[in-house]
Amino acid sequence: MFKRAIKNWLSRKGYSIIKASPQDVDSMIPLSLPQHLFENSRVCASREDVLPLLPKGGIIAEVGVAYGNFSALLLEILQPEKFIAIDSYAFTTDNEPWKQTILKESKLSHLEYYKDRFKNEIIAGKVEVHQGLSWDCLAKLPDRSLDYVYLDAGHTYDEVVKDILQLKKKIKDTAIIQFNDYTLFDAFAFVPYGVPKAIHEFITEENLEVLYLCLHRQFFCDLVVRKKTATPFSFPGQS
Ligand SMILES: C[S@@+](CC[C@H](N)C(=O)[O-])C[C@H]1O[C@@H](n2cnc3c(N)ncnc32)[C@H](O)[C@@H]1O
Repeated sequence: MFKRAIKNWLSRKGYSIIKASPQDVDSMIPLSLPQHLFENSRVCASREDVLPLLPKGGIIAEVGVAYGNFSALLLEILQPEKFIAIDSYAFTTDNEPWKQTILKESKLSHLEYYKDRFKNEIIAGKVEVHQGLSWDCLAKLPDRSLDYVYLDAGHTYDEVVKDILQLKKKIKDTAIIQFNDYTLFDAFAFVPYGVPKAIHEFITEENLEVLYLCLHRQFFCDLVVRKKTATPFSFPGQS
């Protein structure tokens, strides 16, 4: 319990615990999904390539924004009316992930850096910055308000389950959710991920259909899902 709490805290700071036991990975193997949830599924070359294929506009949230690289793409391509940027914004000059020195060079805190990067959109009322634990921030949003969510905050099973619990209440029936890091194991940091297990449970419970699997060179793939409704998802170019 204590070990897991430390792991979760470190992951929110952008760190990963090195060395997972085979049992850690075994316990994260997800349920199989039934074939009927893949009747309309397609594969994309990358998480970026799927964005032009998704509906534009609406209220969207990115849960776990880091420095805002993917936020910039979501804003440009999905052109939302409102963009909610959720993160603990806890990177510091001493703990920048991925060997980055962005905060060191800019002399800004994580929160200041993100706000500065999107200052025009914040002034225009398009971007809202929410700081805190992802599930707490999600809990404060109006119910059934989100049209699209990019989920990329904590990657342990417990963290993703807590986010999904809130998402269930916060998404519209027609919402699309794009899950990042759909992978069992981070082969670079030697950390097991609970993302597939948590998502497969969510998909099964809510009868979601898989729209896209987005590949990634290092296999940090994305899975794009939505509720299975009577109206089939209209893929671009489909008559
Ligand atoms: C992998 S990064 C996000 C990268 C970003 N989506 C992108 O593609 O550019 C994960 C982010 O989630 C944040 N994070 C991790 N766990 C969190 C939690 N439980 N609550 C809030 N933020 C969290 C970290 O601070 C970090 O900025």
